[in-house]
Amino acid sequence: MKHLASLIDWNSESILDLIGLAATIKKFPEKYHQALKNKTMLMIFEKPSLRTRVSFEVAMTQLGGHAIHLDAKDSPLGEKESISDTAKVSSRYCDIIMARLFRQEDIIELAKSSTVPVINGLTDTFHPCQILSDLFTINENKGRLKGLKLSFVGDGNNNITHELLLGCPAAGMDISVGCPKSLMPQKWVVDIAMKKAKTSGSKITINNNSKEAAKDADVVYTDTWMSYHVPKNEKIKRVSLLKPYQVSSDLMKLAKKDAVFMHCLPAMRGYEQAEEVIDGRQSIVFDQAENRLHMQKAIILKLLGKM
Ligand code: CP
Ligand code: NVA
Repeated sequence: MKHLASLIDWNSESILDLIGLAATIKKFPEKYHQALKNKTMLMIFEKPSLRTRVSFEVAMTQLGGHAIHLDAKDSPLGEKESISDTAKVSSRYCDIIMARLFRQEDIIELAKSSTVPVINGLTDTFHPCQILSDLFTINENKGRLKGLKLSFVGDGNNNITHELLLGCPAAGMDISVGCPKSLMPQKWVVDIAMKKAKTSGSKITINNNSKEAAKDADVVYTDTWMSYHVPKNEKIKRVSLLKPYQVSSDLMKLAKKDAVFMHCLPAMRGYEQAEEVIDGRQSIVFDQAENRLHMQKAIILKLLGKM
């Protein structure tokens, strides 16, 4: 049974294959309108969402199937019912499960006990659907991935940063992270990323200097300073810690002339990026958001063995 818990065990070939399929689906969506007739996806959410919820539900509708939204608060999950029992019961009704949970361990547990494919729709540690869509978006914009440099500036101990650290080297891209000392990516993720980089010949640099990270980048990427799982009372402390890592117009000038600005969204203008950056000509954030739909169709079809 193949799942998508993170990009840890997805190699370069399987990622490029998904990007190719997403491009075909985007170009000829009508060809796939009956692909998942009578198939049902269960979508479990422990955290809020706009893009993930809507794009997965639309994807299932456009593929001829159906999606059920289950707010974890409205289910016995975690309190009266174990993750394992939830997986076993849901597998008897549904053909595929997508879950947005707090703990990565819970996604792994869900996948272990499920007899149908499980997709991680974001945990505190990883966000594979986002980064696959982003690689597709970069390829669409630049015409290639290999040899490009992506710079991530901001919260380094973050699901987006972690997944970029796995996805970029697998796609043959260099990645440079600039983040505060107290918000560095988790070491075990960096170790896996380094192994991927060794195989592909990509370069990974992690330091505490946003200018150094952004230098000569093809892509400048940032993410919220207040991820869903971060307690709200940490806001003031985080804003002052992360302020030097804001993506400003000046920082964008250090990247290549034709560099693009990316953000998985939701974004807070005036915090992780200046308003003129996210709303400026280099920003491709809404292409990123749209491509979640096309990439997730590709992911679902692959995991269900339809392609
Ligand atoms: N980028 C993303 O996953 O957005 P949502 O939190 O709105 O799903
Ligand atoms: N790091 C962000 C990503 C949102 C899509 C969060 O976890 O809230």
